[in-house]
Amino acid sequence: MTNSRRTFAIISHPDAGKTTLTEKLLLQGGAIHLAGEVKARGAARRARSDWMKIEQQRGISVTSSVMTFEKEIEGETITFNLLDTPGHEDFSEDTYRTLTAVDSAIMVIDAAKGIEPQTRKLFEVCRLRSVPIITLINKVDREGRSGFELLDEVADMLALDVSPQMWPVGMGGLFEGLLDFRSGEVARPEGDSKEYLGKRDGDADIPENFAEEAELAQVGYPEFDLEAYRNGDLTPVYFGSALKNFGVEELIDAIARHAPPPRPQPAGEDQISPERDEVTGFIFKVQANMDPNHRDRIAFMRQVSGTFKRGMKLTPSGLGKPIAVHSPILFFAQDREIADTAEPGDIIGIPNHGTLRVGDTLSEKNDIRFTGLPNFAPEILRRVQLKDPTKTKQLRKALDDLSEEGVIQVFYPEIGGSSIVGVVGQLQLDVLISRLSAEYKVEAALEASPFATARWLKGPQDKIDEFERFNQGSLARDRDGDLVFMAKSPWDVGYQEEKNPELAFSATKER
Ligand code: G4P
Repeated sequence: MTNSRRTFAIISHPDAGKTTLTEKLLLQGGAIHLAGEVKARGAARRARSDWMKIEQQRGISVTSSVMTFEKEIEGETITFNLLDTPGHEDFSEDTYRTLTAVDSAIMVIDAAKGIEPQTRKLFEVCRLRSVPIITLINKVDREGRSGFELLDEVADMLALDVSPQMWPVGMGGLFEGLLDFRSGEVARPEGDSKEYLGKRDGDADIPENFAEEAELAQVGYPEFDLEAYRNGDLTPVYFGSALKNFGVEELIDAIARHAPPPRPQPAGEDQISPERDEVTGFIFKVQANMDPNHRDRIAFMRQVSGTFKRGMKLTPSGLGKPIAVHSPILFFAQDREIADTAEPGDIIGIPNHGTLRVGDTLSEKNDIRFTGLPNFAPEILRRVQLKDPTKTKQLRKALDDLSEEGVIQVFYPEIGGSSIVGVVGQLQLDVLISRLSAEYKVEAALEASPFATARWLKGPQDKIDEFERFNQGSLARDRDGDLVFMAKSPWDVGYQEEKNPELAFSATKER
């Protein structure tokens, strides 16, 4: 049962085609009928409309955070959970954290642009956790760079073996179709819009120069190796056009055949297997209600093991006493419905009033704690300036709350008064200011800080003490009291690393 789930995300730079591909994936996926849903339909329908009413009244939007679709592949029904990674102006730590909840990712690259900055950042986060990656080189219906150039760029820039699984027969105006190496068939454009409507020919009749290219591509790169892919060392590469529907079916097929089913998750020294009977999971994202009159939040739990049933009691690690999960939300392609059951790999939305925090473990017996959910070094650091100096206590409370929720990270400098907040995306700062004002009645402004990034410090105590003596002006504590080196530039980090080889300057911190 559990091995029929594929929980994945799409990583890409804005405009590469993530939205278009998502739509096409959902279109190809059939209607969702999970076991147990049929008999519960009446209740589920009522509950669903209640939920949507609440959502409207209170301005919560969880739409498209998680999309589920199903497809029958080689006689087996596979359930795909696609987790959205906000990738545009709202790029934030949420985006990174979502990648801690997936078992694999699709990396979409624009054939004219190759690897772009955001693709690369997101890729690095995947690499941290050895998340296997399938690559789609998109927009082959337009003029792009040569396939070889793109393959080499992925290999060189990301230090990853590439294994092409198909080849575009021409690009742009010359585009004649896609040659699938596995079947030897060419999928061809049809109709006025030149879309892919399902026509393939086996006895591929393609111009000689393209046939030669395809052969070169097949012999010139490593063969697909499942183990290397699953370890994150090799990426199979597909070509296609999300817009024209080319290569989409092959991509779904590839996820079904190669992408790992729910993986065991680290909990200290242990690995918690999806086969474990006990229901366990972890919170990777909390979405707060934007209406200040309601403190409701939706916590997104990635289920790791067991079979979840509605009404079940789970104990959050941060709380210690069990909560009954009466109105969990499962996410479907079109609607959200109240979940009756969920399996490892599924995502469950749990409405709560702030009891659940990012990084919390939930379990039936409260006997494990998932680890490896990292905080990421912020890329934007700002000093928080209070407009009313008597509100220091409220500000501290608010910053602690919001950092626990994962909206921002907060750093308290060892010298000097004002707190520093760190984020990976600009939008987080806007959210911070508006929530400070609306929810905590604290008016604050953000000012430039002299720091560019932060690194968590680890090492032998005497070396830390020594470092502290000389660099106190660049040290701060995060909300857990852990020591952080505030760097003025990336160069500063490199310099200190070299000067202090016994100390680790870590760009991530595990919770
Ligand atoms: P994103 O979510 O990664 O930011 O990208 P999105 O899917 O929104 O696509 C960005 C633009 O690229 C869109 O055009 C979209 O139609 C186009 N696009 C996506 N896939 C393909 C493809 O395979 N081939 C071609 N030729 N274009 C593609 P737009 O003009 O910005 O938006 P719209 O006016 O089409 O909505």
